Amino acid sequence: MTWLITGGAGFIGAHVVRAMRAAGERVAVYDDLSTGDPARVPRDVPFVRGSTLDAELLRRTLADLSVCGVVHLAAKKQVGESVERPLHYYRENVQGLQTLLEAAAGGEVRAFLFSSSAAVYGMPDVRLVTENTPCAPINPYGETKLAGEWMVRAAGRAHGIATASLRYFNVAGAAAPDLADTGVSNLVPMVFERLTRGEAPVVFGDDYDTDDGTCVRDFIHVDDIASAHLAAARALLDRGPGTDLTLNIGRGEGVSVREMIGLIGDVTGYGAAAEPVSAPRRAGDPARVVASADRIRSELGWSARHDARAMVVSAWEGWCLRNPGARR
Ligand code: WQD
Repeated sequence: MTWLITGGAGFIGAHVVRAMRAAGERVAVYDDLSTGDPARVPRDVPFVRGSTLDAELLRRTLADLSVCGVVHLAAKKQVGESVERPLHYYRENVQGLQTLLEAAAGGEVRAFLFSSSAAVYGMPDVRLVTENTPCAPINPYGETKLAGEWMVRAAGRAHGIATASLRYFNVAGAAAPDLADTGVSNLVPMVFERLTRGEAPVVFGDDYDTDDGTCVRDFIHVDDIASAHLAAARALLDRGPGTDLTLNIGRGEGVSVREMIGLIGDVTGYGAAAEPVSAPRRAGDPARVVASADRIRSELGWSARHDARAMVVSAWEGWCLRNPGARR
């Protein structure tokens, strides 16, 4: 009874591995190491280096490790890059998923969790985004995630596999400093980078129709994302074939970009040096994207435990581990 975690050497995947193992589940990691780091995979966890496009290796891995369930996180996730290289994104995220589902359907897999994203909603014009808010992605990345959800649902139904699509909102933080995100493509690490270079953080747009004029997001601790996977994985095996869950993973609380930068200034000790400068709006940024977290609470009894400060504190510990001169 092993769970195969694709992308388990990545930032979120490594947290899922850690949480599932801590709860007593048997796990294995499948990762092509294109962005993942093998140092994140614990030594006693079976590791297969491979692509989700490699049908034969997937088939053999599922059989050799007696995989009962798949948690599929391996994917490309840069919105801007997806606009530049849409075919690459469709190949990796959609064809890779199709190849994996074919292998799963031909084996003993009974549960399949898919890592989706709030990007499927595009520019939602609602206070809280529910899972019934219409999906209208505005970039190829979001399109591949929505197409992925459809494929997972259809394949699960046809092949008797219980399925779940988990729509992550804005992931931040780290469960341990050495598991922190090494990318610098989201708000929190982008602000850390500017501060430690002696530059003021930048706010992309301060004239949105929000309380302080900056965008509002639902930031969620990666440790909470991981515990939601564990809860969903267990629910799928318990409930069995015919189960299909689509769930937001968020806190249901909005934090503005300006509030987040203020918190970072406070936590890091940069204080007034963290006063942001305003820049023009970034193309494609919705003013407000905040989850309704009601469905996951009622379906799985799950809710987030960490607040925004805990995300910043833990992300900063990780940043300082890799950048020893960063601390003030
Ligand atoms: C958050 C807010 C920026 C940096 C993206 C993807 C989404 C999901 C999560 C994967 C925005 C503003 C940022 C800075 C700023 N990805 N900002 N100054 O765009 O909400 O979501 O990552 O599933 O699909 O779109 O996240 O962290 O890039 O930005 O003002 O230096 O912070 O404009 O309003 P985003 P983000």
